[in-house]
Amino acid sequence: MQIFLTGANGYIGGAAAVALIAAGHRVRGLVRDRTKADAAAAHGIEPVIGSLDDVALLREEACAADAVVNAASSDHRGAVEALLAGLAGSGKAFIHSSGSSIVADLAMGEPCDHIFHEGEPIAPVTDKAARVAIDRLALAAQDTHAVRSVVLCNSMIYGPALGPPAQSVQIPALVRQARTSGVVRYIGRGLNRWSNVHIADVAALYVLAVDKAPAGTFMYVESGEEALGEIARIIAARLDLGTAQSWPAEDAIAAWGRAMAVYSLGSNSRVRGRAAAALGWSPTRRSIVKWIAEELV
Ligand SMILES: NC(=O)c1ccc[n+]([C@@H]2O[C@H](COP(=O)([O-])OP(=O)(O)OC[C@H]3O[C@@H](n4cnc5c(N)ncnc54)[C@H](OP(=O)(O)O)[C@@H]3O)[C@@H](O)[C@H]2O)c1
Repeated sequence: MQIFLTGANGYIGGAAAVALIAAGHRVRGLVRDRTKADAAAAHGIEPVIGSLDDVALLREEACAADAVVNAASSDHRGAVEALLAGLAGSGKAFIHSSGSSIVADLAMGEPCDHIFHEGEPIAPVTDKAARVAIDRLALAAQDTHAVRSVVLCNSMIYGPALGPPAQSVQIPALVRQARTSGVVRYIGRGLNRWSNVHIADVAALYVLAVDKAPAGTFMYVESGEEALGEIARIIAARLDLGTAQSWPAEDAIAAWGRAMAVYSLGSNSRVRGRAAAALGWSPTRRSIVKWIAEELV
């Protein structure tokens, strides 16, 4: 298949592109400029220079493709609308990337017992409402646009870039701060938990989703979960930085910004997926703690 993929230089998009190419597909990947085009091409991706705001380009590329993977942003509604317009009436696959902060709470380090399952209604916090609306738009496109639309709702992804140079969100932020300050931080009591998954397993799931996920499938992408305090402790041990330390919410927000502190590092995002297993997905890595302890660099 010829696949049009956005975010070809990104952490998720680059890994998905490399896995799709390894599975025998051609990937045309959206990149923002010439330098990034070269990085994508080095991984066998055919670069398409442009932005998520280039409606005509996205429409045209989607129309010419056999399937579309949107991995540049979970939050760019205009891009989703343009890609769906290009695919309209085709029955082809549209794989949209969301993130499990759609179920995040405002716990700031406190635990929560609730685990979200696929199909369970969610009532997002205000900051995440627009992302949830995009997921719903994508899923509804099976009827509104006659496409095979699928949403992969990724949890905390860890592991090295598998395509062009890129980094994930949460673990790299903790490590960057640790390297500059000499201290690994967690918020409050650090008892808040996030589901997580290794990037190689995520990439394998994108290939399966393009190949055979039924229209209208929403998947939580996860293979384990851990508390943020424990993650910080293991990072501190791995980097030989002594003991991880708690941070009051206000200090964390001042340093990391609200989105990162409140949702990415202070919240609970506990999800469980079954739809991926139904496609034959079998994650090869199940312990973020083991990965940090043995492989984090
Ligand atoms: N990593 C995770 O753990 C995770 C988990 C769940 C959800 N998510 C969400 O999934 C999405 C992708 O995540 P990621 O970790 O792969 O992020 P990333 O590494 O920053 O990759 C995003 C890629 O998309 C490109 N991009 C962004 N906005 C663009 C625009 N307006 N026009 C053209 N290209 C654009 C970026 O280009 P440049 O290289 O030029 O900046 C980058 O290469 C994000 O919305 C993220 O919040 C991530």
